[in-house]
Amino acid sequence: MKTVKVGMIGFGTIGAGVAKILTQNSEIIKRRLGAAVELVKVADLDIITDRGVKLASDVLTTSADEVINHPDIDVVIELIGGYEPARKFLLQSIAQGKHVVTANKALLAKHGDEIFSAVTEKGLSIGFEASIGGAIPIIRSIREAFVANRIQTIEGIVNGTANYILSKMSDENCDFDTALKEAQEKGFAEADPTFDIEGIDSAHKIAVLTRLAYGTPVSFDDITVSGISDISSEDIECAREFGYRIKLLAISKYDGEKIDIRVHPAMIPVAHPMANVNGVLNAIRVCDDMMDENVLIGHGAGALPTGSAVVGDVVEIARNILSGVGERLPAGSFQEVKNIPLKGISEIESEYFLRFSVVDHPGVLSKISGILGKHSISIESMIQRGRGDRGEGVPLVMMCHKANEKNIQSALKEIEELDVVCEKPNLIRVER
Ligand code: HSE
Repeated sequence: MKTVKVGMIGFGTIGAGVAKILTQNSEIIKRRLGAAVELVKVADLDIITDRGVKLASDVLTTSADEVINHPDIDVVIELIGGYEPARKFLLQSIAQGKHVVTANKALLAKHGDEIFSAVTEKGLSIGFEASIGGAIPIIRSIREAFVANRIQTIEGIVNGTANYILSKMSDENCDFDTALKEAQEKGFAEADPTFDIEGIDSAHKIAVLTRLAYGTPVSFDDITVSGISDISSEDIECAREFGYRIKLLAISKYDGEKIDIRVHPAMIPVAHPMANVNGVLNAIRVCDDMMDENVLIGHGAGALPTGSAVVGDVVEIARNILSGVGERLPAGSFQEVKNIPLKGISEIESEYFLRFSVVDHPGVLSKISGILGKHSISIESMIQRGRGDRGEGVPLVMMCHKANEKNIQSALKEIEELDVVCEKPNLIRVER
């Protein structure tokens, strides 16, 4: 029986998951593939820490070159994350004629063109299912299952850590720091957790999905990004009272002319298919001209869900190798890449949730509603809480009908300057 040989660079949380799946389920893989998949070299700077997986003593090495230049290795898996040296290792592996598999969304968001071109030039394959949504087969769905359809919207909860934090704050009244610490301990968070919290990881993922869905490369720097660090328990509670949940959403919508791409916390109605996707679960909603809406839900982070996606890619590539097929699908999913202009955030329209901290005096509400009215913003409903002591701010929250983002921003700027407003107003966009 033939053996497909695999090397891996990076033996952290996900690497350990991949090694566990390849060893523990090797018989299943062999039966389903008709060949064995053997992990022959694993490189990491730390080969001392026990990862809970037993590998033969000659498998571990501290040298990535031993993987890249290994004459028998067919597929190199990159799991070190970050831009460098991950980019260099992938390009060197491709130059050596190795197929590659990566979970590195940051790298693909920034250097996707270079890496995809290198793979295509060499007639090799690249698997990157694990870069988005952990175990959810979203890349395969877009590239293969939905290949004939014109995607109009791709959006979702694509960061497990942020979703874990928001869910815990909402359901268990857990504070932000405790929830983050738990997510880190469970191995969901990025090496730098600000990537999770500030929406950067979600932006990397939506950049990669946008390229796949519409065939256009998007520069990460052009995406409007805000994270969840300004979300308070009060926002979560008010959202619930209005009939919504707060989720960190990555959004990419194509109206035929421009792409509206952004990452921010959003209020979604409780009946929305993604409203009850909690904890580390991710959800990705795809709308197109043929199927209306599909929502894929699954484990978005962690060693085994993400490891499963990596192994799935390895087996897919192994199938191609065994059947003598080279590159079966263009890496970026489109044969021809086109540049579609992006919509600036000031061009969008949305419904809004606004939270103000105001002094509790007569006439305050009319001042605020007057400014909103002047900017053509219509209030749908409102809650005012408590009665603060003299000088202390009380929360005033409102839902506004659909309005222009530019008008909302101008109104908030004016409201912030009122002497009855105690803090910078908070805005959360509503998505349906
Ligand atoms: N840090 C990421 C998350 C891991 O929390 O979703 C998966 O990309």
